Amino acid sequence: MPTRKLLLLPGDGIGPEVMTEVKRLIRWMNDNGLGNFETEEALVGGCCYDAYGVSITEDTMAKAKAADALIFGAVGGPQWDGVPYDLRPEAGLLRLRKELGLFANIRPAVCYPALADASSLKREVVEGLDIVILRELTGGVYFGEPKTITDLGNGQKRAIDTQVYDTYEIERIARVGFELARKRRNKVTSSEKRNVMKTGVLWHEVVSDVHKREYPDVQLEHQLADACGMQLVRWPKQFDVIVCDNLFGDMLSDVAAMLTGSLGMLPSASLGEIDAKTGTRRALYEPVHGSAPDIAGKGIANPIAMLASFGMALRYSFGMVKEADLVDQAIAAALAEGLRTPDIKSAGATVVGTTRMTEAIIAELGRLAAA
Ligand code: NAD
Ligand code: IPM
Ligand code: MN
Repeated sequence: MPTRKLLLLPGDGIGPEVMTEVKRLIRWMNDNGLGNFETEEALVGGCCYDAYGVSITEDTMAKAKAADALIFGAVGGPQWDGVPYDLRPEAGLLRLRKELGLFANIRPAVCYPALADASSLKREVVEGLDIVILRELTGGVYFGEPKTITDLGNGQKRAIDTQVYDTYEIERIARVGFELARKRRNKVTSSEKRNVMKTGVLWHEVVSDVHKREYPDVQLEHQLADACGMQLVRWPKQFDVIVCDNLFGDMLSDVAAMLTGSLGMLPSASLGEIDAKTGTRRALYEPVHGSAPDIAGKGIANPIAMLASFGMALRYSFGMVKEADLVDQAIAAALAEGLRTPDIKSAGATVVGTTRMTEAIIAELGRLAAA
């Protein structure tokens, strides 16, 4: 079994709490012959700012470039509200995404059978839901220049963010979307605002061209991003893969999270281009949720988004499809037992903390692996 080098970046708030649970899972996999992982840890986010005055160090950037995969917790929190913009905790994560070229952010929203009643939407709307939000992650308004606040000198200021997309950026994310769809239910919904934004016009044109040229077998539909948000809560099962820009993807994936019961359920994989020589790609795995300052330190954070993100690392970085499936099945089984962290609790369920939830998932994993 090849040795896989993981760089663990726990971050702030509940980040370290859920990372502790991934470490538990990694240890268990190593001890039981299901993997051979070597881990190293580094600071990123607010904790890194407190220690070094920056949200990520050059040393950590170098380690990130050398690792087989990065496992990221969450960053940010109100205690860093006053930090200069360029040094804020979130800047560390954005630098990782940009410099590692992690342009394809896969955010699956799956409603586990046991959780159909945990969503704020009706059971029939979410039961059996299995969709993917594919978010472009290294372009758009997140990184476009100019990005400034200027004092106009008349008591007014002007803030500018710039939304930029080049053809190649839209082409490569569209390809990831079509490839994903081919392995699923063969449908892509492309979402933009071509009625208002030039980037939306180009997005629509390029996705349509890629479809016609390379993926005519996949069903493609277009939805304006505002309507897509509405359709996501009206009848989400109409979707298979939704492909959208960086900002719309950020919004739509938090919306999609609530279809699964909680933000604490949504994992994600951020992938770079495949290196033609080595066949490998840079990758970072992180839950969609943030540092959850309101529950940090209480031991009640839902570890499932983080554990499932590690499952995505097994699937997308290491080709360990069987083990990745086992992790997903173990999560489903622990939920079916009736165990719930407070964010997904429902009548009759056993409410447990972060560690108990993980221990139950690992116990199920042990049973499933032995079966
Ligand atoms: P958040 O995702 O941290 O929390 C939103 C709500 O969801 C909170 O009520 C929280 O308690 C709940 N929640 C989130 N994860 C949960 C979990 N695993 N289990 C149970 N409940 C969970 O979003 P926010 O409060 O808007 O942001 C807090 C900070 O996190 C901000 O600084 C933000 O920039 C940052 N953030 C970081 C990331 C990241 O590091 N990838 C992602 C989103 C937000
Ligand atoms: C996410 C987060 C990040 C984003 C923040 C923390 C920079 O909300 O990963 O969804 O906006 O991309
Ligand atoms: Mn977000």
